[in-house]
Amino acid sequence: MKILITGGKGMLGRTLAKAFASHELAIADLPEWDVLDAEAFAARMKGFSPDAVVHCAAMTKVDDCESQRELAYRLNETGSRNVALACRECGARLVAISTDYVFSGEAPEEPWSWRETDEPAPRTVYGASKLAGERQVLSICPGASAVLRIAWLYGSGGPSFVHTMAKLGAQEGAPLKVVDDQRGNPTSTAVVAEEVRFLLERPDVCGVVHGTCEGVTTWYGLACELKRLLGDGFPREIVPCTTDEFPRPAPRPRNSSLENAVLKSLGHRAPDWREALSQFVLEEFPGSGERQ
Ligand SMILES: NC(=O)c1ccc[n+]([C@@H]2O[C@H](COP(=O)([O-])OP(=O)(O)OC[C@H]3O[C@@H](n4cnc5c(N)ncnc54)[C@H](OP(=O)(O)O)[C@@H]3O)[C@@H](O)[C@H]2O)c1
Repeated sequence: MKILITGGKGMLGRTLAKAFASHELAIADLPEWDVLDAEAFAARMKGFSPDAVVHCAAMTKVDDCESQRELAYRLNETGSRNVALACRECGARLVAISTDYVFSGEAPEEPWSWRETDEPAPRTVYGASKLAGERQVLSICPGASAVLRIAWLYGSGGPSFVHTMAKLGAQEGAPLKVVDDQRGNPTSTAVVAEEVRFLLERPDVCGVVHGTCEGVTTWYGLACELKRLLGDGFPREIVPCTTDEFPRPAPRPRNSSLENAVLKSLGHRAPDWREALSQFVLEEFPGSGERQ
């Protein structure tokens, strides 16, 4: 298969490039491949003529999107539109990566996980611009595209919450305060790569697909599990705190956990977040002692 990965040098793109190394790949990232330059991008894509495109390029810094609204929409909406138009012209299957931030996070009841059929209601520029991108993809390439919503991502090299915590946890200092009132599904790029593989092998699966690890936790819960896995490599204490103690420019969803209803109905089940994290820690921080 010929596969083109937009944002191929980013955190997810790098894992995808490794996972699909046996295929013919185009790592489409800046400066050569600019999703904002519609004409040049389409011409380059035509030259490569991919069977499938995995669209990862995005403005991913959630707080920066609040202060750079126009740029966020240009990249996350218009960029996705340009990629979708180029895919339509080439007849390529498109898997576009999106986010749990399309949901408000205000769950109607608890426990709650958002399904593909639930109505999105983003509360941030990042979430709204990604949702606008989803709509471009699905309307330009109906029947030939899937939007894969993922969340709380970490992968080799980072940057991610897991990398930040591993670094701070190794340092001496006062106990680390970690937010314990936001719920979600920590998900590794390796798990997402397997979901992308599944979607490329099943071109009949179209529309919105949720693709996180199984299981729900808080940032504090994730930090505690990382501390346990890193053992002596994470000597610092961690203590729970509330969102109000860490005000951010973009309000974070209280509960953005996703239910992978579509993937599960097709027999594809992602691993539990603890299992995926344990595998990641072994590979990313070799030599760290796992405490059972
Ligand atoms: N990270 C998360 O926690 C998370 C959670 C849910 C969903 N997602 C989604 O997952 C996808 C991948 O995220 P990620 O964390 O791997 O992002 P990332 O590391 O920021 O990678 C994005 C890549 O896109 C590139 N890019 C930026 N503008 C571009 C343009 N105009 N043309 C082509 N490439 C461009 C970036 O290059 P520069 O670095 O040079 O700008 C970067 O290499 C995104 O769609 C994101 O919305 C991420």
